[in-house]
Order: sequence, then C-alpha cells, then structure tokens
Amino acid sequence: MKALVLAGGKGTRLRPLTHTSAKQLVPVANKPVLYYGLEAIRNAGITRVGVIIGDTGHEVRDAVGDGSMFGLDVTYIPQEAPLGLAHCVLIARDFLEDDPFVMYLGDNFLIDGITDLVDAFDAADHDAQILLTKVAEPQFYGVAELGPDGQIVRLEEKPEHPRSDLAIVGVYTFSPAIHEAVQAIKPSARGELEITDAIKWLIDTGHRVHSHFVNGYWRDTGRLQDLLECNRIVLERIEPGVMGTVDRLSQTTGRVVIEQGAVVENSIVHGPVVIGPDTKIISSYVGPFTSIGPNCMLQDSEIENSIILDGSSIHGVSRIARSLIGRNVEVNRTSRLPNTHQLMVGDHSKIQVSS
Ligand code: TTP
Repeated sequence: MKALVLAGGKGTRLRPLTHTSAKQLVPVANKPVLYYGLEAIRNAGITRVGVIIGDTGHEVRDAVGDGSMFGLDVTYIPQEAPLGLAHCVLIARDFLEDDPFVMYLGDNFLIDGITDLVDAFDAADHDAQILLTKVAEPQFYGVAELGPDGQIVRLEEKPEHPRSDLAIVGVYTFSPAIHEAVQAIKPSARGELEITDAIKWLIDTGHRVHSHFVNGYWRDTGRLQDLLECNRIVLERIEPGVMGTVDRLSQTTGRVVIEQGAVVENSIVHGPVVIGPDTKIISSYVGPFTSIGPNCMLQDSEIENSIILDGSSIHGVSRIARSLIGRNVEVNRTSRLPNTHQLMVGDHSKIQVSS
C-alpha cells in the first residue's frame, strides 16, 4: 500500500497566511499540521508516500525533506495548478503504479490516526472506501447522501444546498480501479476534476464503494475556527514540560510546555499552552489553548485561544483571543493621540477590533 498526500491547493480560506506559505504547514500546538498526517501514515505501516505540491512546494520540501525523519520514503509530485483532488490522482499515476493507496488531504487532522481504516480496507475487497462524519456546515465539504441500506446514493462537492449533514473526511482508500475513473470524468462547473465525481463513476460502473463513519475527532484545518479547535484538542493532550526558565514572580498552571531557551517573567501562564523555543513572555497573561511559536515576544499583553507563528511580537495589547497571527508580525499599543488604530496589513487579512 502507498500513500498520496495532497499538499498543494490554493488555501483561499486561510489568506493572507497562504499568500506566502503552505496551509499544510500552519502549526497546531507548534507542529505543522502536515506532520500529524505523515506520522499517521507511518503508524499505519505505509512507507512509500507521494506528496503533491503546488506553488508552495519549496516550503513543503524544506519541511519534509526525503521523509526519513518520519521513517518514510517521500516522492514529490508537482501539480501545475490546483486542478482538483482527482487531478492529483491523475498526475500520480506513475508513482502509484497498480498499488492500492490511501489518499490523504494534507490539511486534515484525525486524532485517532488512520491505522484502523487502512486495516479495514486491506481486509475487505473494495475499490474505494470513504469516511463520513456529521458536520454542522456541510456546504463547506464533500457531502454524501445515503440510501435506506446505508449505500451511497449521491455525492456532491461543496453543495450550495446540501442534502445531508454527512461530510466526506479527507482520507480515502482506493484500489487501482480509481485510475480509470479519473480518466473518465470531466471538470466540474468550478473547473476542477472532483474526486466525488470519480467515486460516483466507480459506483455507476458497478465497482465496490464502501463508506463508514469516523468515530474519533476529525477536522479539515482549512478554516480559522477549525484550526483553533484542532489546536485546542492537541493541547489538551500535550505532555507538559518546562525546558526554558520561569521566574519566581510567574505562575504556571495546567498543561504547560515551555521550550528550550524560552523565558517567562512576571507572567501568568494558564494551560494548556505551548511556548516555543527562545520566546519571551514578560509581564503578560497567556491563557488556555494558546500556541506561541519560536522567537516571539509578548510584553504587557494578554492572549488566549490563539496561534502565533515564529518571530512575532505583541506589546501592550489586551486581550487577544481566537486569533491566528502569522510570522514576524508586530502588534503594538500606541500612546500617541489621536486614539486611532493604525494598520499595515496584507491582502485578504481579517481584523476585528472591539472598540
Ligand atoms: P481544499 O481545501 O479543498 O482546497 P484549497 O487548498 O484550494 O483550499 P481553499 O478551499 O481554502 O481555497 O483542498 C484539500 C487539500 O488538497 C489541501 O491540502 C490542498 C490539496 N489540494 C491539492 O494538493 N491540489 C488540488 O488541486 C486541490 C484542489 C487541493
């Protein structure tokens, strides 16, 4: 069995971060979300992995290398443009050969890994296996409608008017029959070769397509609220440890990780929280479900339920919540009058001010 990991795409929902970097490398508890997927693939006993890359390919290559750090053997497959999930299968034909494979969307996160579903596929004789889970906003996902006996009667990609609340989770398993399917289908109205159309083709031509429900926690981290929720779930399970320094005026409670070289002075850190290497927290409050990356600076500020990436600094601002702050960002309080908000932000940024 091989794996095909999709790490290209547009990432429009996480702009402006995705203008400059891959959405699959946005950190969850200070670790790129893609790493959780690669570890899950390795834990399922798969070693040969094809990784689809797009415009941000150089960054994915830098982060994953030849895969040996995960115990994997990685082959990169450049995609000229994000032409759809089925297009990824099409261009991976040589790599996949006639082996069965698991297709893993690189921004998806499954807390229980994929070992059970890979084993289930191995044991059965299916041509495709899809995973389903109930979601609150099915219009943002591939959606399946099941018949009375649990058979799939309809699959739709991000439908405007979903007919069920069953989203297709971004991990699929396929036999080589999928190659004929992706050749046979045409691009959808939005110009993509849809994997849902390829699976429909398999059903219509009498192939065995099986669906089953995911019990454990799953999220597509393509949207801010889902990313923050994943961060919360991972932090709730994190192994606490203080490798940096915490002075006597500071107080830490709950699950707190303070990495090597990090300094906490005159501050309150209320876990679960992870503070990255060489980050400084001075006279500040860091509240639950916060991940602060390496080389950041937080002074006279308060933050909770947020993710901050490398090299950013926050001075004199309270209180930041439910936020995603990119790399090398500066957020400062000004003491000058008039009392205004002064912004220099990138395209497609989202800012919510409280006053
Ligand atoms: P999506 O989240 O469906 O698409 P996207 O990355 O373009 O994001 P957005 O909707 O925010 O614009 O893609 C799922 C995963 O598959 C994601 O990790 C990106 C990857 N992908 C590719 O590698 N190639 C593609 O052609 C597409 C459509 C997605």
